[in-house]
Amino acid sequence: MKKRILTGDRPTGPLHLGHYVGSVMNRVRLQNEYETFIIIADVQALTTNFEHPEKLKQDVYNVALDNLACGIDPKISTIFIQSLIPEIAELTIYYSMFVSVNLLSHNPTIKTEAKQHGFEHRKTYGFLGYPVSQAADITFCRAHLVPVGSDQLPHIELTRRIVRRFNELYEPVLVEPEPLISSVPRLMGLDGNAKMSKSLGNCINLIDSPKVVAEQISKAITDPARIHATDPGHPDVCNIFSYQKVFNPDFIKELEENCKKGAIGCVACKKILINVINELLAPIQQKRAEYEKDLSVVNDIINQGTKRAKQEAELTMELVRKAIKIDYQI
Ligand code: TRP
Repeated sequence: MKKRILTGDRPTGPLHLGHYVGSVMNRVRLQNEYETFIIIADVQALTTNFEHPEKLKQDVYNVALDNLACGIDPKISTIFIQSLIPEIAELTIYYSMFVSVNLLSHNPTIKTEAKQHGFEHRKTYGFLGYPVSQAADITFCRAHLVPVGSDQLPHIELTRRIVRRFNELYEPVLVEPEPLISSVPRLMGLDGNAKMSKSLGNCINLIDSPKVVAEQISKAITDPARIHATDPGHPDVCNIFSYQKVFNPDFIKELEENCKKGAIGCVACKKILINVINELLAPIQQKRAEYEKDLSVVNDIINQGTKRAKQEAELTMELVRKAIKIDYQI
């Protein structure tokens, strides 16, 4: 039997390049090798968006479309909606009985996100606890591998701890998953922030037009010490150079040398990057447009996927309930 992948996204807007290199690229590459489940984590999206649920439905479609556009093949991969699998919520409650609040409050990704969203001092129960719910997302289908960006590592580590603890406390019915971190380093935000993130407005979305891509990259920061195009540059501290490494690996040596010599200026260097990114995005956007012509096809894909996920959830929950003695025959 094929091993399983579970991975997914929060529907809080269209996916961006950070998602693409961090996780989507890997899931597309591995979908033939692994039985792949892609969760559209709508409940998790509410952790930061509970005041604006009205955008959720549209973003569920956005995320499904982006995955399909990037090459997820619905004939072999399963795309489903988190909230339609109530077993995930049930599993979250069981896990939450033995996960300590102290452990959750030390999660570095939670700390960073709390800062980003301005709720360091008013974290909700659901926000602090979403990594527990994410552990349920991963384990309900007994996944072996979780392709994610490096910011998600603390959550996968927690999942592994939860699985070990559950298996030790009750019966060994859960699978301990491994993270698969992208070989591409995390993309910085265009503003130089550590992470490309929608809430920081420093990203390139997969749906951005060539014009928007050009605008976004044009205003991105580069080597701050470089004032004239002929000044020698410092690629090692340049944000745009870190993008070139990812998207333009064949020309990286040449770019590096020319930058250091002051033979290529930031504007010309950005132009090259704009072109490669637009070339990468063109076929993705074309495929997306085809799916967008008939959203009933996307509906069917999500429906079928959710049915498939539900089967696995029922199977796992039978084992879990038995293990924790919540399987009354009354
Ligand atoms: N937390 C992930 C993100 O912000 C999304 C996600 C939800 C996820 N459930 C998951 C990722 C399970 C991997 C596995 O991108």
